[in-house]
Amino acid sequence: MKTFTLNVNGQERKAEVEEDTPLLWVLRDHLDLVGTKFGCGMAMCGACTVHLNGEAMRSCVTPISAVGDKKVTTIEGLATDGKLTALQQAWCDLDVAQCGYCQAGQIMCATALLREKPTPTDEDIDLAMSGNLCRCATYTRIRKAIHTAAAAK
Ligand code: FES
Ligand code: FES
Repeated sequence: MKTFTLNVNGQERKAEVEEDTPLLWVLRDHLDLVGTKFGCGMAMCGACTVHLNGEAMRSCVTPISAVGDKKVTTIEGLATDGKLTALQQAWCDLDVAQCGYCQAGQIMCATALLREKPTPTDEDIDLAMSGNLCRCATYTRIRKAIHTAAAAK
């Protein structure tokens, strides 16, 4: 066991874990940030997507020892002072979620996309979101929410 110090959602957090513990389990089991979900555990579904220095990555296959001083952002860290981001607001306004299980990962991936491409095309969206699976098939509403948020900026 080793004590790791992480920057998570702008706060310094500590976790005493093995070096190969996936970031996903550190977030959920040690830091009580359960918005990030476990789906496949193999970088196949996107449910566990968080940001490292603003880039979307799969926390289920990222060992804690690889995080270093990079800034971790989870779904809990997107809103500022209780105010949703334009993307989160669009998600609510359009009722994107169905069962909701995949949605934190979807929003984290879409947030990273909009940071890189503020006005993405359908093709940009399909490409960027292709690794985030939704068993409820909310893909059409996800795409619409991303366009809505892009137009709101
Ligand atoms: S749980 Fe990480 S990609 Fe599926
Ligand atoms: S909303 Fe149910 S898995 Fe995506």
